[in-house]
Amino acid sequence: MRNSNRQWILKKRPVGDIKPGDLELVESPIPVPGPGEILVRTVYLSLDPTNRIWMSDMEQYMPPVELGEVMRGGTLSVVEQSNNPDFKPGDVVNTFTGWQEYAAVPMAQKMPPGVPLPAYMSVLGATGATAYFGLLDLGKPQPGETVVVSAAAGAVGSIVGQIAKLKGCRVVGIAGSDEKCRHLVKDFGFDACINYKTEKDMRAALKRECPNGIDIDFENAGGAILDAVMDNLAMKARIVLCGMISQYNATGQMAGTNITNILMKRARIEGFIIIDYLPRFGEFIAEMAPWVMQGKIKYDTTIVKGIESALPSLDMLFTGKNTGKLLIQVSDEPK
Ligand SMILES: NC(=O)c1ccc[n+]([C@@H]2O[C@H](COP(=O)([O-])OP(=O)(O)OC[C@H]3O[C@@H](n4cnc5c(N)ncnc54)[C@H](OP(=O)(O)O)[C@@H]3O)[C@@H](O)[C@H]2O)c1
Repeated sequence: MRNSNRQWILKKRPVGDIKPGDLELVESPIPVPGPGEILVRTVYLSLDPTNRIWMSDMEQYMPPVELGEVMRGGTLSVVEQSNNPDFKPGDVVNTFTGWQEYAAVPMAQKMPPGVPLPAYMSVLGATGATAYFGLLDLGKPQPGETVVVSAAAGAVGSIVGQIAKLKGCRVVGIAGSDEKCRHLVKDFGFDACINYKTEKDMRAALKRECPNGIDIDFENAGGAILDAVMDNLAMKARIVLCGMISQYNATGQMAGTNITNILMKRARIEGFIIIDYLPRFGEFIAEMAPWVMQGKIKYDTTIVKGIESALPSLDMLFTGKNTGKLLIQVSDEPK
């Protein structure tokens, strides 16, 4: 065990891209668990596009992280000390203890053994649930329909496309490199993939790949990609508004989108936030776990080591340097 607790503290609200000094890595004493508490050591920290939103004071779905606080983040941890009879050292627990190495918490959800730990932080965690509920509950895919997903090689997008294939849809991904596109088609069964960084005319590319129009758009990018999708909607299309990563570092007003075709195509656009689905997580695990075990759903992870890497690595999400779920491995997995 280390003899101090390194923590990332939010010092300033970033304006535009995050700059050095917006967050600071500090060393604090390792907390002492109180009566009934457990001391947990972070093993994996999830880096998410929404971290950028939490650093801002824009209108959002949770309170922003306060200045001077430890940066918020989802974590998977191991129990180091326990004053709670329900936990013992070595237990792996799902936590939300943020960008730090240790925390004392009253309780946490124990994770069953037998699953590679990164899976709990990706396909069998909030990422997989976002893909599952967003696509199935809001998108309601039908066999033969065309599904478009942006940030398709990312954590959520890559799972969305595979679930849509299991439901008998034609799946067109949008991703930021030829290598990502090749991987999605060859290894993950997508029907087609458009490299939005090299494609000169996204509207024409979507028309080419979706000749009958887009029935479901699982929107992760927003901005110009969403604009191009809007011009290719099929009648009664559903736009599942999961995220708008192209806009999170924007200063001023986020880019607007022409919604005329929502009217013309009698389409539906609906935003959703995965925390609203927490009570239904059992349903998701019951269907997703067998898909993963049977190899029907695959997942990628990009893992960077060390809590000191958390801030420098966050930008990978905005530059597309990650494939699949981006994780920080803060400490070793328990033996
Ligand atoms: N609503 C919810 O509850 C919920 C939950 C989880 C995530 N989300 C949202 O889902 C989206 C994906 O999140 P994730 O965790 O799965 O991250 P991710 O897709 O693993 O990583 C983000 C990806 O976005 C792509 N990207 C970055 N800037 C872009 C731009 N300007 N235009 C198009 N693509 C861009 C990059 O890939 P390329 O190489 O393809 O550019 C990058 O790899 C985000 O918008 C996030 O906010 C929403």
